[in-house]
Amino acid sequence: MKLFLDTADFNEIKTGVDWGVVSGVTTNPTLIARAGQDHETQVKKICGIVGDVSAETVTEKKDDLVVEGRRIASWHKNVIVKVTSTPDGLAAGKVLAGEGIRINVTLCFTVNQALLASAIGAYIISPFVGRLDDIGEDGMRVVRDIVDAYRQQPAIKTKVLAASLREPLHVSQAALAGADIGTMPFKVLEGMYKHPLTDIGIERFMADYRKTQEPQPVRR
Ligand code: E4P
Repeated sequence: MKLFLDTADFNEIKTGVDWGVVSGVTTNPTLIARAGQDHETQVKKICGIVGDVSAETVTEKKDDLVVEGRRIASWHKNVIVKVTSTPDGLAAGKVLAGEGIRINVTLCFTVNQALLASAIGAYIISPFVGRLDDIGEDGMRVVRDIVDAYRQQPAIKTKVLAASLREPLHVSQAALAGADIGTMPFKVLEGMYKHPLTDIGIERFMADYRKTQEPQPVRR
């Protein structure tokens, strides 16, 4: 499973890329607003340092979405255009996908929405795990079901991107569910490294190493 960062914060992305584990980024209007720069500037900057970068459309009608999607796609070859799982969003996505633009269908909460996304030739479907959990549903179950449904249909090439991952456990669960990509905030990525036994092990190894560096008693 590929690991993406769900952020528009340049420093977080730079760090994840430097660590060698992050291969893409997902953004949304909330994350862009938090980063404090305009959409185009921020997305272009991110595209300069990492592979796939999802950037979201914000118009509502099909024709406007097509125009907006073409504009966003022209910013950089790494851009994947996000449309929402609505009739207008998907109709526009189909036109854009037909032009060779990669589409990420976002705000997906059901297997049916995932089937609609694959029907328009979407490159990515993004089921939102945490937001389903927030309303008392089982978000990871939806990821598992989408993966299973897609596997029954070999013609489907759409990748499953588990989104709205809120804790490190979600990341391993998404991988076990068969998701192609998991996207997460930086703090969740950091959490993936952590285990108390790793810290204790490092401490012991370092202490033993230091002992070998101390002057040895002279034998007579
Ligand atoms: C993904 O594309 C979304 O930006 C994201 O994962 C949403 O996460 P949230 O529900 O924690 O805001």
